[in-house]
Amino acid sequence: MISSLRTPTPTEDPERPLRGKLSSHTRRDFVRGVAAAGASTAGAVALGGTGLDLFGETALANSRSNGFGHFEAIAASSGDALEVPEGFRAQVLISWGDPFRDRKGRTHRYGFNNDFLAFFPLDRRGEGLLFVNHEYPDPFFIHGYKPDGAAKTPEQVQLEKDAVGNSIVHVRRRSGGGWKVVSPSPYNRRIYGDRPELDFTGPLAGAAGVGVTANGSVANCSGGVTPWGTALSCEENFDDFGVDVEADAADAYGWKQFGGSPADAEYDSETQAKYGWVCEHDPYDPHGVGRKHTALGRFRHENTAFRHEPGKRFVLYMGDDKANECVYKFVSDRRFRRRDPEGNRRILESGRLYVARWEPEGRRRFAAAGDTDPVTATEGRGIWVPVPVAALADTAAKLREQFGDDEYDTHFATNRPEDLEVAEDGSVFIALTNNSTVNDSHGSVRRLRERGNDPEALAFSWRDYAAGGPTGGDEGAEGFSSPDNLVFDRAGNLWVVTDISSSRLNGDNEYAYHRNNAMFMVPTSGPNKGVAFRFANGPVQCELTGPWFTPDEQTLFVNVQHPGEQTGNASDAPGVFGLEQTYTSWWPEGDRSRGDNPAMPKPSTVAITRIPRRRR
Ligand code: FEO
Ligand code: CA
Ligand code: CA
Repeated sequence: MISSLRTPTPTEDPERPLRGKLSSHTRRDFVRGVAAAGASTAGAVALGGTGLDLFGETALANSRSNGFGHFEAIAASSGDALEVPEGFRAQVLISWGDPFRDRKGRTHRYGFNNDFLAFFPLDRRGEGLLFVNHEYPDPFFIHGYKPDGAAKTPEQVQLEKDAVGNSIVHVRRRSGGGWKVVSPSPYNRRIYGDRPELDFTGPLAGAAGVGVTANGSVANCSGGVTPWGTALSCEENFDDFGVDVEADAADAYGWKQFGGSPADAEYDSETQAKYGWVCEHDPYDPHGVGRKHTALGRFRHENTAFRHEPGKRFVLYMGDDKANECVYKFVSDRRFRRRDPEGNRRILESGRLYVARWEPEGRRRFAAAGDTDPVTATEGRGIWVPVPVAALADTAAKLREQFGDDEYDTHFATNRPEDLEVAEDGSVFIALTNNSTVNDSHGSVRRLRERGNDPEALAFSWRDYAAGGPTGGDEGAEGFSSPDNLVFDRAGNLWVVTDISSSRLNGDNEYAYHRNNAMFMVPTSGPNKGVAFRFANGPVQCELTGPWFTPDEQTLFVNVQHPGEQTGNASDAPGVFGLEQTYTSWWPEGDRSRGDNPAMPKPSTVAITRIPRRRR
């Protein structure tokens, strides 16, 4: 059963009084929150021996559950609405352009194309900070530009710089279970594409092309959290920003070309290495200076997932989101210690980066596009190969040079790693989204287990855990395609959002069955183990990103990224700026599939909650 639900935005409700001090909200609360959430994306606490049955296919009984564990899966949809199962509601919390103020009364605007989000608790009642990434601008929606090769003005480039980066937004749960933005708040702030300065750390800080600082942050795709209470933001398609604009190059923003400032030369990813790093921010510190960690390498960073265990060094898993690129892990020189905040802040500054080498091969290959039976092995073994310091500034290119094309493509390349997440038992789930160069249309979720379940191990085994494609028959369980972000709930269910290219959605092709991009829940144990149940549908041409549960798992936050993306992303795209009727999505203020209220589509952050029984 489908229900299309929208509830009022927070601006329609009177603000509650602001609590006025930075007070007693502690990092300790954050650590406890992570522990309470069990595995979640943090993979925080290895519970040794009580986890899932790794490569045995026996389903374990699982009695734990949360507010989201039981729902009636919904059918695929092409509608221009965010759809959730009956009994749930989806509230738009904040959208692109919405103002939120800091304590000095300065107004900040929520950025474009929200991707990663994480909730940092301020208390146990339902108050916290959302740390959100704004990945890339859409020049058409921001200032009416189509990629027809024409020049941009420096003012247009500035609007794009202002639309990306990160937001830290203070939010509070209301008595009815919905959420509102707290504004003004001393925590509210933005990081932009050109400001403030972030500091470099690690072996390449100060090196030629890197320097000591960078102006702002770009291409912030997904990310992660640390157990010491900071957010990690991953610069993914960093090379799009300095590239010169040419006709129909939708992903070239021309900031160096049209920016109008000498500093804009720094977006040239060929000559400088200011972007393409993992950035660390402290949401709890409004005066905190972000840091870019060179020890983690420079590639198209999708996200991070950590593992720490008593007596072991801190480990961070990462993927390079590009077809035929790699999976990495960083093993810190230091261990995480709860009572050593200063030491913990240095964990990502020094250590060893490794790249995964897969046997018999890393890519899942198919005979033809759309096939669901691979011609390659779906399980095997692998080793972690050290990455030399000399390769850190341009990691993938240097490693390809080192290993040679044949070795690299056979044993290191994968099918575009999007999110990696650490399960409660320490195994690592990897969303390999798709790879047209090897006819992988639908992708898979791969599971990697370190030898001896030791995070520092230099060998592992792997198995493709869940395959994308039309793998099921029942309505709501037809199967996901092109997995992107992953998150575990504390019952061990895996939540998967999909990212089929908006140009291929709802076309006459192998993705037709899937309709809009969606969110699925995949039980990892019990009788439904491995089945993908559709929990939410996104509006037209969006992808859903950044799913994140609050520590009590009563709220699931999710981002709706690039609704209506095909409106103005080519010179002959249908959009006419200012004429909403021509836009391909009208969400969230309207619904194009119903002809309801033509409006500008806006990337937005949504809070999904269960409707209290008395209100249903
Ligand atoms: Fe920005 Fe890898 O998705
Ligand atoms: Ca992604
Ligand atoms: Ca993606």
